[in-house]
Amino acid sequence: MRPLALVTVLALCGPLSSARGQISAPDDGYDLWLRYTRVADTARLAEYRAAISELVVTSGEPTMQAARDELALGLNGLLGRPVPVADAPTRDGSVVVGTPANSRTIEALPLAAALREAGPEGFVIRALPVRGHHAIVVAANRDIGVLYGVFHLLRLLQTGESLARLNVVSAPRYSLRLLDHWDNLDGTVERGYAGASLWEWARLPDSISPRYRDYARANASIGINGTVLTNVNANALILTPAYLMKVAAIARVFRPYGIKVYLTARFSAPIEIGGLATADPLDAGVRAWWAAKADEIYRTIPDFGGFVVKANSEGQPGPQDYHRSHADGANMLADALAPHGGIVMWRAFVYSSEVPTDRVMQAVDEFEPLDARGAFRTNVLIQAKNGPLDFQPREPFHPLFGRMAHTPLMMELQITKEYLGQDTHLVFLAPLWEEVLRADTYAPDPRSDVAARIRGLAGVANVGSDRDWCGSDFNQANWYAFGRLAWDPMLPSAAIAESWVRMTFSNDPRVVRPVVAMMLASREAAVNYMTPLGLAHQMARGHHYGPGPWVAGGRADQTSVYFNRADSIGLGFDRTPTGSNAVRQYAAPVRARFTSRDSVPDNLLLWFHHVGWIEHLRSGRTLWEDLLQHYQAGVDTVRWMHRTWDGLDGLVDTGRFRRVQGFLRIQEAEARWWRDASVLYWQSFSHLPLPPGYEASAHSLEWYRQLRCPPDPRKPRCKPS
Ligand code: GCU
Repeated sequence: MRPLALVTVLALCGPLSSARGQISAPDDGYDLWLRYTRVADTARLAEYRAAISELVVTSGEPTMQAARDELALGLNGLLGRPVPVADAPTRDGSVVVGTPANSRTIEALPLAAALREAGPEGFVIRALPVRGHHAIVVAANRDIGVLYGVFHLLRLLQTGESLARLNVVSAPRYSLRLLDHWDNLDGTVERGYAGASLWEWARLPDSISPRYRDYARANASIGINGTVLTNVNANALILTPAYLMKVAAIARVFRPYGIKVYLTARFSAPIEIGGLATADPLDAGVRAWWAAKADEIYRTIPDFGGFVVKANSEGQPGPQDYHRSHADGANMLADALAPHGGIVMWRAFVYSSEVPTDRVMQAVDEFEPLDARGAFRTNVLIQAKNGPLDFQPREPFHPLFGRMAHTPLMMELQITKEYLGQDTHLVFLAPLWEEVLRADTYAPDPRSDVAARIRGLAGVANVGSDRDWCGSDFNQANWYAFGRLAWDPMLPSAAIAESWVRMTFSNDPRVVRPVVAMMLASREAAVNYMTPLGLAHQMARGHHYGPGPWVAGGRADQTSVYFNRADSIGLGFDRTPTGSNAVRQYAAPVRARFTSRDSVPDNLLLWFHHVGWIEHLRSGRTLWEDLLQHYQAGVDTVRWMHRTWDGLDGLVDTGRFRRVQGFLRIQEAEARWWRDASVLYWQSFSHLPLPPGYEASAHSLEWYRQLRCPPDPRKPRCKPS
């Protein structure tokens, strides 16, 4: 059980008061959005207290126990008084929780149609009479559905919803809703900005951190049902017996919360830990090794989910080392896992500097022919990032989502903000994800939006050992948003932001409105001050923090100049038929829209076109004028976010108020840094002046170019001014 002390104290105290009225209770971030402080609105509190007076949970199975514990904890906190547990409804105000199989009360209720709609993981919440008493029922077909329903009910209370006429049926859109941890066995986290890895490998399996359970609670509260524990740049040691025991110990903690454990499989593991001379996927000995390894894994972890594989990408080993295809590699692992019901998520993030084609085209070129031949086993999913490059502030949707006719697809999103200001910048990612999920691929299917073309979502986690889990208060919102979208990809960003703010900060409209507005503006702000008008990959080399549009040398397809193509004529990557012709990978209507300068969206202009500095855009302004305006808009929006937050002084508890304020100060300085470094660099090609009144840059281009970040691999921060 999580530490109760803080919640108990808060429940007793209720919200604090300040000169401006109620102030959110102090919070070190540990409780995430699962804050169960007493309901501040007295009328709502009275309504909730009248509607909820006892809990009826009849099963002692682990998931049902988790549901009961969460309800008891949540209701005690929110209602500010203990709610007793009973075996059967004895009075008005029972919350009856269970499945038809574990509760006779629920079995007897007329819920069959709703439960059919809820499916294996969904739930039904209803206000209805039970044995003559007013009751609220949380019912599901399986225990895990009950737990999800319990979290939903608590969310309704946390966000101040009325319980009158309660009637909810909810089912997840995808069965695969996974967090991918890029965690290394030495405790470091690739692209992690929230401390060390959560997994304490040296102490496992004997010592179990209480954080594992709280992590599982947080995930279950938003419907996440799988965790890939290890980095895609994999270490074969995780597949050795000693580590599998440790993985099994984590899986035991996660199981009641409906979370399956997955691992990354290093393709060369048969050589590294198996003592074989080859990892050739068509070699009988290699195939037998993987089959035996899968048997061993399932003996240790019976509900193991499967493997994620990064192969022949950025130096990782793979089937192409043996002149075999991605399908040969994926199928070998799929065959090993199939008898146990496991799956392979084979990543499409492949590109090679030896292939002359535009980097963003290589995944389709590689995987589409295999798909066309129906080459993959049925338990293989191809996992593509949202865009064809690499988690940029904005990219068009990955063309693979419109191309694969036979092979199921997963979409990988990056919750950790490698390219979006990492721990400090406030950037709410739901609008980015909403944009791609709703994009129309024009694939020949009844529903052709990206959301309909995938079987699941994987999010690269932003979770680490920091007390607040995510390195900043607002980064928690991205974890939350990911889970909510994996459950319902059509949920609007605004609704996600609002529920998160209400749960995390306050239901006070003076807090909710401005904070939601800040969150919703934040992604476009980052696009504007980092990579406006369709620019991409202009970050500093390696750590990707701060501007580096001049980055050149080394592997060409990882440099900024490869992507920006700045020259004396203009800026941007020609991906039309006169250039790399990457547009050919999109269906005809999308291709036509992106190819024509008349229809390409402004926000993807330089992704698809090389545009002259003084060419006029649809805005009537020249490219140069529009670029400057976008950089300035990015800075201005961050300034507005900062001012807006300052206006919440006295409405948000001092600790969180100051933490967020400090980070906004950094973001504002760094938005200027991005603007000034970028504009000066582009100016060295355009030789055009800044219009009168444009904010002058603080330093010279040379000053920005020589700026080096302190050698802090965890948070490589520069001090621009
Ligand atoms: C990015 C990231 C790497 C990561 C890679 C991947 O390139 O910078 O750290 O390994 O993506 O997704 O495989």
